[in-house]
Amino acid sequence: MSTVVMTGGTSGFGAVAAGRVRGSDDVRLILGARGPVSTGRSIPLDLAQLDSVRAFAAAVREETGDDPIDALVLNAGLIRPDVADRTVDGFETTFAVNHLAHYLLLRLLLPGLADGATVVLTTSGTHDPATKAGLAPPRHADADLLAHPDRDPDGETRARKAGQQAYTASKLCAVLTARALSERENTPSRRLTALAYCPGQVFGTGLAENLPFPLPVVWSLLGTPFLSRPLSRLSPTLNTAPSAGNTLSDLTLGLVTPPAGRTYAALRRGRLTWPDPSDLARSAELAHKLWADSARLVGLPD
Ligand SMILES: NC(=O)c1ccc[n+]([C@@H]2O[C@H](COP(=O)([O-])OP(=O)(O)OC[C@H]3O[C@@H](n4cnc5c(N)ncnc54)[C@H](OP(=O)(O)O)[C@@H]3O)[C@@H](O)[C@H]2O)c1
Repeated sequence: MSTVVMTGGTSGFGAVAAGRVRGSDDVRLILGARGPVSTGRSIPLDLAQLDSVRAFAAAVREETGDDPIDALVLNAGLIRPDVADRTVDGFETTFAVNHLAHYLLLRLLLPGLADGATVVLTTSGTHDPATKAGLAPPRHADADLLAHPDRDPDGETRARKAGQQAYTASKLCAVLTARALSERENTPSRRLTALAYCPGQVFGTGLAENLPFPLPVVWSLLGTPFLSRPLSRLSPTLNTAPSAGNTLSDLTLGLVTPPAGRTYAALRRGRLTWPDPSDLARSAELAHKLWADSARLVGLPD
């Protein structure tokens, strides 16, 4: 029996992936979820509270005992209309939920990963200015300034753009974290696979729910099967939730072998591609600095 631990499996394309993983032979899926889930096993997890992440990791260790974890899927995420909100730990919410909490979870579960395990972090092509995705691209991946945007001397003053930048920067952090993990000392000897996965643009999920009206309504409408299928033919970055979710489950179950040295996977026209990520995301120095700074913010050694 193999064990998969996943965040963000309750809604959107993550729910599609979770359903497929759960239905696979000989796989135990442990979901971290804020609320009750209708099918399968879940353990309470609120990524907006680092203590909840610590409690979740402890509960997972208790449940798995001596069984190693074969795949860790860090898919949960949100986007907010601005950067005004702070978590109970005092960090900007988008950065804290999308990056910092997942970083802590990864660090806490890392010793319990099986040799040959897969770690997937869901990112977004919006981390890369070259994709011209329509959201303000990140200016940096400085963990301290992302955690406390009010301390950023060059911070974006327009609330909406600042919210977009917090999101795209958190997704840059996902790409950098996959890279840093892949370059950790014992990753090759443990044969760990670290991947940042961009599902493309997937309408109809819950992602727009915190954005101002009418965006959530438009997002939902564009995600109906009637519109999403024809739309996905118009642009290579548009994918349906089933396509994005099935690909995430393929990565989770080890059904895809990444090309050597690649840690960024992007779904384009329903097919998995392995492009270079953004210029910032290709910086080894930035990846290792983010790893170390994130460790300090969550109270762990590097
Ligand atoms: N849709 C797109 O176009 C797109 C594009 C690129 C990347 N992504 C990324 O893909 C991932 C999934 O997004 P989606 O579009 O499928 O959106 P979604 O339907 O809103 O799914 C988000 C998931 O994250 C969970 N979540 C949010 N905040 C949480 C918290 N504080 N604690 C625990 N879980 C939390 C949600 O749980 P609840 O059920 O409790 O709300 C849900 O399962 C995200 O990381 C998103 O950034 C999406």
